[in-house]
Amino acid sequence: MGEQVTAGPEVPTGVDPVELEQIACEVARAAGRLITEERPRDLGVSAKSTRTDVVTEMDQASQELLITLLGERRPRDAVVGEEEGAAVGTSGVTWVLDPIDGTVNYLYDIPAYAVSVAAVVGDQGVEGGWRSIAGAVLNPVSGELFHAHVGGGARLTTASGTVALAATGASDLGLALLGTGFGYDAQVRSRQARLLLELLPQVRDIRRAGSAALDLCAVACGRLDGYYESGLNAWDRAAGELVAREAGAVVVGLGGPDAGRDLTVAVAPGLAGPFVELVRTLTREHVTQDH
Ligand code: IPD
Repeated sequence: MGEQVTAGPEVPTGVDPVELEQIACEVARAAGRLITEERPRDLGVSAKSTRTDVVTEMDQASQELLITLLGERRPRDAVVGEEEGAAVGTSGVTWVLDPIDGTVNYLYDIPAYAVSVAAVVGDQGVEGGWRSIAGAVLNPVSGELFHAHVGGGARLTTASGTVALAATGASDLGLALLGTGFGYDAQVRSRQARLLLELLPQVRDIRRAGSAALDLCAVACGRLDGYYESGLNAWDRAAGELVAREAGAVVVGLGGPDAGRDLTVAVAPGLAGPFVELVRTLTREHVTQDH
């Protein structure tokens, strides 16, 4: 694939992506401790876009903690997140937060949810108008912390230390293990299922883990050969797509190099040509009409 994006909005003068990566790691760890150690018996669940799209009181508490900690460390940065609460800024850096990505897994106590923290530059409100320059995705149950800054490679830190990440060397689509996810709207899900029906016979198998941020990191560390999903919000993917790209995966969208709401693909470089073409074609056929 010759279209992977590496340029985009400039890193503002005086902003150090290495420092932002460290901050992302630090605040993600704090939020991870909160949501695991202080998980209440009653999660205080309420519905958002549909009856199945839920938010718990811990999503909100996690986001509030992240905003407080980022405000202490980077008072001039803006912050936006999945839940209510945002902060405006003047530095040119915006923190894009998913305080619990994989909320349904959190609800059922399935240990596959994450705190996702990304520092982005550009206009966060415009599709394709921003890019991540640093980020961290923490699975607070496994203790795995995936992190990266632009141009610096991607790493996984656990209790045993830190290792560099690399996407797989896969080159045969028929043997590829792929991840995906589904939106909360019933009509969208039905189209996503029809796409899957066509894709599944052409690949090794599909995984649906329930956290887009962790799926993208799974591509980065070689647990998946590729991942695709349509309908993602910026907070679902901002940190994970940087980790995947920095691990050598090809990350693109439906119409070009920018991943977006229409489509986010992250795939091992040797599979990028056939996989991106197939998923784009199927997505155009089946999914985008609903957006
Ligand atoms: C969801 C998860 C899921 C993906 C959905 C996302 P949330 O985020 O990342 O894996 O399939 O599209 O909305 O709601 O748990 O933060």
